[in-house]
Amino acid sequence: MEKVQVKDAKGKMGVLVIGVGGAVATTFIAGTMIARKGLGVPVGSITQLATIRLGKREENRFPKIKDVVPLTDLNDIVFGGWDIFEDDCYAAARHAEVLTVEDLDKVKDELAAIKPMKAVFDQNFVKRLHGTWVKQAPTKWDLVEAVRKDIRDFKAAHNLDRLVCIWCGSTEVFTPMSDVHKSVASLEKAMKENSPEIAPSMIYAFAALSEDAPFINGAPNLTVDMPAIWDYSAQKKLPICGKDFKTGQTMMKTVLSPMLKTRMLGLNGWFSTNILGNRDGEVLDDPGSFKTKEESKLSVIHNILQPELYPQLYGNVYHKVRINYYPPRKDNKEGWDNIDIFGWLGYPMQLKVDFLCRDSILAAPLCLDLVLFTDLAHRAGFSGIQSWLSFYFKSPMHDFEHIAEHDLFIQYTKLKNTLRQIIGEETIDYLD
Ligand SMILES: NC(=O)c1ccc[n+]([C@@H]2O[C@H](COP(=O)([O-])OP(=O)(O)OC[C@H]3O[C@@H](n4cnc5c(N)ncnc54)[C@H](O)[C@@H]3O)[C@@H](O)[C@H]2O)c1
Repeated sequence: MEKVQVKDAKGKMGVLVIGVGGAVATTFIAGTMIARKGLGVPVGSITQLATIRLGKREENRFPKIKDVVPLTDLNDIVFGGWDIFEDDCYAAARHAEVLTVEDLDKVKDELAAIKPMKAVFDQNFVKRLHGTWVKQAPTKWDLVEAVRKDIRDFKAAHNLDRLVCIWCGSTEVFTPMSDVHKSVASLEKAMKENSPEIAPSMIYAFAALSEDAPFINGAPNLTVDMPAIWDYSAQKKLPICGKDFKTGQTMMKTVLSPMLKTRMLGLNGWFSTNILGNRDGEVLDDPGSFKTKEESKLSVIHNILQPELYPQLYGNVYHKVRINYYPPRKDNKEGWDNIDIFGWLGYPMQLKVDFLCRDSILAAPLCLDLVLFTDLAHRAGFSGIQSWLSFYFKSPMHDFEHIAEHDLFIQYTKLKNTLRQIIGEETIDYLD
């Protein structure tokens, strides 16, 4: 297998987080700082902990991914970002109440040094938040220019070799894809004309790509999932990926559904409900933002079970997803699933899942892996949609010619085979 030419991970890499004062962002940043000081274990991170089998089984080669894949060292990451609130990252992390004060104080000065840049914000896209730290400009195009300037200034101030941008901002209201999103020219025109179909997240994404920074979308917003940005990222030779981190309930769905299908067990209904009390829960309490999330969560089962091929087993599935804002639980989400299945001769059975998880604790390692792998993809010369990173997303992006793969273990196989290709090792089909 020929090795992919990967540029060295030299110098410092900037990670610019949109929504840098949020629960996910501060947990990701603080956790990375704690891990690189050796004061905590980055549990959940494939880049930091997982091994990869190389060669035939009998060769017994299972190195750590980070020892064989040329990833950026955690010590070379410089964090920054934007938020609609002015709090520095330490104050914001205290507010989020995910990590303990004892943990946050291990990296207090570093965290407090991250002051958000003023955000691009439009209340029409996040109804429940009232931003106070927001850029003003006559048109959306001027806002692109302002974000581009932020990126250039950040790069110069920290003497960075390269950058990656990641959206950890709130979920925007559902924006259907329309003609303005179909080409780079129509997108630019719409931004210059202040079209209501241009969301803030699209402004950041366009600015990032214009400044040669790959873009990762952790929320279900349209953002980079449109032909205009697929084309723009290909033109600019930059990787993009999204949408919506696959952390809790949907991760369970993409494990349990393949199990049912592999054993040819039938499914009548899947009722999923959540209680969540953080700011994300509050934003998702708005029907517009919830619709974006709902679309993202609903497609998974259908895609895995292929009812068109198995109408007797999956032709009549009732799938319902609910998210309830319940402040006492803060970031500690509880996700219940009631799954009505059937077996031999149609006899009914039930599965119940009660996942008492911590939203940001599950999302933080995904942010770290995505940032490192997307930067790797950039240095390897990959561009456009990175389907090998579907593993991390509820709604993996794909163009009109492809379909998404949702099965967690197929996604993981694809991720590892891509890493094998990058380092010039044979891909593995598990025949031997
Ligand atoms: N935690 C998870 O398991 C998980 C899983 C999938 C997706 N997500 C998504 O990740 C995102 C972040 O989640 P969270 O729990 O950290 O939410 P959060 O509300 O704590 O953080 C979002 C942050 O984004 C900021 N923000 C909103 N609009 C902005 C804009 N236009 N520019 C800059 N900043 C902006 C908010 O002020 C806030 O600080 C949400 O969209 C959420 O749906 C989270």
